[in-house]
Amino acid sequence: MARHLITSAIPYINGVKHLGNLVGSQLPADLFARYQRGRGHEVLFLCATDEHGTPAELAATKAGKPVADYCAEMHDVQEALSRGFRLSFDHFGRSSSPQNHKLTQHLAARLHEAGLIEVVTEQQVYSIADGRFLPDRYIEGTCPNCGYDKARGDQCENCTKQLDPTDLIDPRSAISGSTDLETRETKHLFLRQSRMRDTLNEWIDAKTDWPVLTTSIARKWLNDGDGLQDRGITRDLDWGIPVQFDGAQWSGMEGKVFYVWFDAPIEYIACAAEWADAQGLDESQWQRWWRTDNGADDVRYTQFMGKDNVPFHTLSFPATLMGSGEPWKLVDYIKSFNYLNYDGGQFSTSQGRGVFMDDALDILPADYWRWWLLSHAPESSDSEFTWENFQVSVNKDLADVLGNFVSRVTKFCRSKFGEEVPQGGEYGPREEALISDLTAKIAAYQAHMDAIEVRKAAAALRAIWVAGNEYLQEAAPWAAFKEDPARAAAQIRLALNLIPVYAVLSAPFIPDASAAMLAAMNAQGAGWPDDVTAALSALPAGHGFTVPDVLFAKITDEQREDWQARFSGGRG
Ligand code: MF3
Ligand code: ZN
Repeated sequence: MARHLITSAIPYINGVKHLGNLVGSQLPADLFARYQRGRGHEVLFLCATDEHGTPAELAATKAGKPVADYCAEMHDVQEALSRGFRLSFDHFGRSSSPQNHKLTQHLAARLHEAGLIEVVTEQQVYSIADGRFLPDRYIEGTCPNCGYDKARGDQCENCTKQLDPTDLIDPRSAISGSTDLETRETKHLFLRQSRMRDTLNEWIDAKTDWPVLTTSIARKWLNDGDGLQDRGITRDLDWGIPVQFDGAQWSGMEGKVFYVWFDAPIEYIACAAEWADAQGLDESQWQRWWRTDNGADDVRYTQFMGKDNVPFHTLSFPATLMGSGEPWKLVDYIKSFNYLNYDGGQFSTSQGRGVFMDDALDILPADYWRWWLLSHAPESSDSEFTWENFQVSVNKDLADVLGNFVSRVTKFCRSKFGEEVPQGGEYGPREEALISDLTAKIAAYQAHMDAIEVRKAAAALRAIWVAGNEYLQEAAPWAAFKEDPARAAAQIRLALNLIPVYAVLSAPFIPDASAAMLAAMNAQGAGWPDDVTAALSALPAGHGFTVPDVLFAKITDEQREDWQARFSGGRG
């Protein structure tokens, strides 16, 4: 039995995520976790909310709530939605957890001991009225490039020019509007990741099996100019992890917190500690996933993320772990994704453009979305969601191919033989041919799942469903029944046995429909069909079943048009 540690990039706390976010990390991670569990392996699957940083503070202010309350509420909202999508996390943590505070401060102390942290004195804008230093995006003013009067200190939203706060004309505090600003000297900690260039290069070079999307981004950042510059890992914010080392205040760092991108990936580890603590397990139980001196040597660790996250996971986070000098488990495989677009444009959180997780579940059950998103995952290039495509894919793959198979077989059996697996006849050459065809198709499916080729895996699964339909079409038990009822019985026995096999194989994609199929067949204990011959005789003659409710309803043209119109504006 192998052991799989699986993490999804942790979603920002500020608001409900859209389907583009979902398909870029959490959903494929869930697919892989469910698959590995299905194959009988031990899995620890972790995700969390990414709660620190300016966007969290700004969103809380906008919601008129203290940031801690806002984050607690949004964490629960996101957790409920992830349950709605059947994301099977072993723990959905919070980057603001006490465990992450402790671990982030601990790692910073180890990096400091290793000489990898430098104190840099900088000039920074201080707001006298607000009594605090202002991060770049908390300073507003007029853009020197286009004259837009609400440009931010880091960038002008209007003309997209990257700015320095000192570039702004008539700068003011975005918090209070005060223009009583001055430049003061302040200190920040920098991570000297440039010193780790060789180590990181060697590490990436050894990853010959990684997807090109991942390694090309990593190499670009490693070797192109300033990708591996030393970076500030502290910020002037109230909300975050205080800059303390092993619990002691770092002098001159009062009122400062760690930068969100420093503490967020550390939450992958802290989340395992949260998971253990929540169950009263001791430290060694999470360390066996994360410490190579505590059993994590034989763990296979896979990370899932969108392409914009790759530099942090191939450079800064490994630099943090390697630089600490402690035996932390490093990632074995990074699966990264391109972007999903929405109906001719981009999904956009700030503009509320596209379908968001809550809207999606209001319209249709999770499986419909899961199937479309995964079978169209943006792997080799960006992909696009359109309502037409969604309708076609749901109606054809789910309703016509899989749903129809299950309904035809169970209903035919009920009408001719009753609600139990029929007796009589034997499997013949046609059945043997189907078994060998399925054996090959299942092997192909597994190979794609092992390689995390999501689209190919979906296509292979669909081919397995199609094989059952074709068998039924050729065997034609409804015709056989009239001439030779025993032959029809054997055919239907085989077809009924295919339902649990389909359920188990399909569960990583469509867990609810799979559970319904297993329940209808009274086969909840069905395991992975390692031996197809055995699996297709698992339900013996006389085994009772029921005809399940319609597994997948077709999407009508009217519904499609209605949703198209409803989602054409922003979500306000
Ligand atoms: N919150 C980030 C995003 O949504 C991802 C953080 S991943 C982690 O882009 F590594 F930092 F945890
Ligand atoms: Zn501008």
